[in-house]
Amino acid sequence: PSLKDVFAGQFKLGTALLVNEIKNPNGPDAELVRKHFNSLTAGNELKWDATEPAEGQFNFTAADNIVNFAMDNGIAMRGHTLVWHSQTPKWVFYDSNGNLASKELLYARMKKHIDAVVGRYKGKIYAWDVVNEVIEPGDKKPGGLRNSLWYQIAGEEFIEKAFIYAHEADPDAKLFINDYNTNDPVKRQFLHDLIKRLKAKGIPVDGVGHQTHIGIEYPRVQELDDMIEAFRDLGIDQQITELDMSVYTNDTDAYETFPTELQIKQANRYREIFDVFRKHADQISAVIFWGKDDLNTWLRTFPVVRNNWPLLFDERLQAKYAYWALVDPSKVP
Ligand code: G3I
Repeated sequence: PSLKDVFAGQFKLGTALLVNEIKNPNGPDAELVRKHFNSLTAGNELKWDATEPAEGQFNFTAADNIVNFAMDNGIAMRGHTLVWHSQTPKWVFYDSNGNLASKELLYARMKKHIDAVVGRYKGKIYAWDVVNEVIEPGDKKPGGLRNSLWYQIAGEEFIEKAFIYAHEADPDAKLFINDYNTNDPVKRQFLHDLIKRLKAKGIPVDGVGHQTHIGIEYPRVQELDDMIEAFRDLGIDQQITELDMSVYTNDTDAYETFPTELQIKQANRYREIFDVFRKHADQISAVIFWGKDDLNTWLRTFPVVRNNWPLLFDERLQAKYAYWALVDPSKVP
């Protein structure tokens, strides 16, 4: 069965991929995407370092390939991401003398970039991660904005500008603030209050994106339930934007093959988590995996190079117990 059909009427079911995964639009990888997913995210190709590596020099070849693939196949396209501290070229933050750019210069560059990228895909990209990971990770400085170059130059206002420019470039696109570990109570509260502040000022924020890179044990299912529930009072859209589940609980273990008992554990955990998403389907418009199969996953290079099996399809694109747990749990031993 097709995943997107199983969840039809509840939320979109999506995947992220890199352009090389669909270089053959008739190959098995593309076929898998067509069959199961109705939302697509580019893993790297719409980021600033890909689209505008040097000032004013735009390169949309890879991004166009992915967006065209989505359009040709009736798949809704998500935009990831406009303003981030990572995968953003150095020149964005410095002037011609090598000093930190002024706020004015930074905003001029931001506006030009957003106009070009959002404008190019106006009407094609239904949702944008306007800002990504702007909250300081909980283990560093709980409950504050990340001390990025964006923040150092412009303070909290850079977030407002990013949303305003994105809305001007495509008034119909849904605009998201995206972050990880949003189940962490301190980070979650800060994010909630930030969105509340932005909305009170009339900033066009439509939704919150929960990356949801999780592990085989943590966060607990109840914490994911609380994570969604915590944003209900804001009346905003919510998306699970980058879901995957590492099979490890630390950075040192490494399995040669995927132990059967862990496969079953992963499947059952996926089922419980999707029960939570289903329960909150009135608040969640899409659930998107960060990758489609266990070969093409960032978790095979991060935090260390090792095998990992975080997704629903294995290295040979075969359905795992994790897949069956979502479409027919009776098939999970
Ligand atoms: O393209 C080069 C290749 O030529 C080279 O041989 C290879 C050797 O390392 O590197 C390749 O580039 C890598 C690129 O992914 C393409 O695979 C970069 O080193 C690597 O840093 C880059 O990682 C990406 C990462 O973001 C960078 O921050 C991952 O693919 C991408 O999945 C990941 O996505 C992020 C989201 O944007 C935000 N949330 C977290 C998520 C996972 O980290």
